[in-house]
Amino acid sequence: MPSPDPTRILRQHLQTDALLGAATVPTPTPITKTKPAASATADTAGSRAPSHPASPRQPAQRPAPTNFSLTPPTTREAAPPLPPAHPADIKLIDGLSNTDKLERLKQLATEFEQDPKVQALRPPNTNLVFGEGDPDAKLMFIGEGPGEQEDRTGRPFVGPAGELLNKMITAMGLSRESVYIANVVKYRPPSNRTPTPEEAAVQGAYLARQVAIIRPTAMVALGGAATKYALSTTTGITRLRGQWAQFVHTDPALPIMPTFHPAYLLRSYTPDNRKKVWADLQAVLAKLDA
Ligand code: URA
Repeated sequence: MPSPDPTRILRQHLQTDALLGAATVPTPTPITKTKPAASATADTAGSRAPSHPASPRQPAQRPAPTNFSLTPPTTREAAPPLPPAHPADIKLIDGLSNTDKLERLKQLATEFEQDPKVQALRPPNTNLVFGEGDPDAKLMFIGEGPGEQEDRTGRPFVGPAGELLNKMITAMGLSRESVYIANVVKYRPPSNRTPTPEEAAVQGAYLARQVAIIRPTAMVALGGAATKYALSTTTGITRLRGQWAQFVHTDPALPIMPTFHPAYLLRSYTPDNRKKVWADLQAVLAKLDA
């Protein structure tokens, strides 16, 4: 087993202090301009950030940018239960080079866009956000679905939640380019609503095929919707986060760590939540180093 790189560990500690405040908690700094609804929890709060222009980066010692509009959606429906688990019939693909993987992912995106089942469910005037990153990544991050900025740019996690995800990746001693980032659904659901079970099942099958091509060592499920699809469960994220689980849609299944969605973290940027997310990410780093 290769021993962990001490320089990387030191860098991670320093970045974690600056980013998540994990080594300096409790940090009383409030980051929200508007208070989240008292009833919003990690399981019920929307995981995609509200629509508004990207904010400039803030100094690293701040716990989070203060100019995010964190008003939670008021009409968010409770996530409906997912359909029963379907058999893990998507075999992991062996022996692909980086170039092969890139080519297969491109073909898969084209297939997705030509799939009548996908197109029948496509919300009007939406753009494809298929995923991006290293096709040979050891680590994949799985989100719920594109928000407004992702829809506009065709790239996953480029809004406020994406900025926090970038910081989380940096704090892990990794770069955004070295991981792969994708969502369960690849078209923005209307009004940022949670994807329906049917949308998740139809579009999520393509996520599973992305996973089968990339074959990451580990994945991180960001938030409740991604976790429900990945684990084929109806259990909420609050109960599942922090424990290794299995992405059940490939054969064999692959390890996945459920954690809070960065958009939820922005809404509830408490020392406790930050510590939990950081602990989850450290478990992921340990898996990658093993
Ligand atoms: N939230 C997600 O789940 N995915 C994105 O790409 C952006 C925000």
